Amino acid sequence: MSERDTALHAATRQVEAALADAGKRPTIAGFFDEATNTVSYVVSDPATREAAIIDSVLDYDAPSGRTTFGSAERIIEYVETNALKVTWLIETHAHADHLSAAPYLQEKLGGKLAIGREIIRVQDVFGKLFNAGTDFERDGSQFDHLFDDGDRFAIGKLEGIALHVPGHTPADMAFVVGDAAFIGDTLFMPDFGTARADFPGGDARQLFRSIKRLLALPDAARLFTCHDYKAPGRNEFAWESTVAVQRAGNIHVKDGTSEDEFVAMRSARDAKLNMPTLILPSVQVNIRGGHLPEPEDNGVSYIKIPVNAL
Ligand SMILES: [Fe+2]
Repeated sequence: MSERDTALHAATRQVEAALADAGKRPTIAGFFDEATNTVSYVVSDPATREAAIIDSVLDYDAPSGRTTFGSAERIIEYVETNALKVTWLIETHAHADHLSAAPYLQEKLGGKLAIGREIIRVQDVFGKLFNAGTDFERDGSQFDHLFDDGDRFAIGKLEGIALHVPGHTPADMAFVVGDAAFIGDTLFMPDFGTARADFPGGDARQLFRSIKRLLALPDAARLFTCHDYKAPGRNEFAWESTVAVQRAGNIHVKDGTSEDEFVAMRSARDAKLNMPTLILPSVQVNIRGGHLPEPEDNGVSYIKIPVNAL
């Protein structure tokens, strides 16, 4: 850890305090969406019942262009059953594989919608790709709050710290709450490795450095990833690991893997990956904070497909 990484230092102290005191640890429920391999989380403070929802999923049927709310309703049911009060709706980044249900959840449950400040760069890149007009603001104003590296936030009495972890996209954030870190698309489970770094604005070298930063948290910190694809030989989906387990055995970045080795592996692997099925609908909606594009004069909202542009 660099002497000057005060945000990581503060996150480390927070994790240590939570490891020493069960009252500072969050209750965490993961909701897995098999259609997009995404894990959404509800993170709550047992003392006050305040909660954050991280990376929710809006169900989207690409052939019909229809959105439905089954995944969101599962979360609403959990929130209501446990009498939670939602204060945050957090996105780790602008996802390229699923649409966010944050606006739907916000309408039903309340809470502030938040993402990393670098979303502005993502809005700029994709605003151009989709030839969005001047009515599409590229200043993050579709969100209620933009997190900077090192920002502190609270879920009830629990403390949280936001860490900027770019590489997969420029805007990726990890959120450390008590002894748990929600690490989005950085590391996946140790047997599956890491997230791709070839989307517009992605950077494998940056991703390696972001991952190393997360792996400098205490060994017992719990890590919660945004996706799982069941590595070959594993029968169950999984999404929770620890720093120690990742450092010992992540197939892409365990202790001893050099930055150059990682970049060579990641670049070779990314060159063979197809674009995610829902990248064009997802990004178009998610850079708008999960809102569909403005309806046209017939009242219908349209998703654009740029041809030969991505
Ligand atoms: Fe992603």
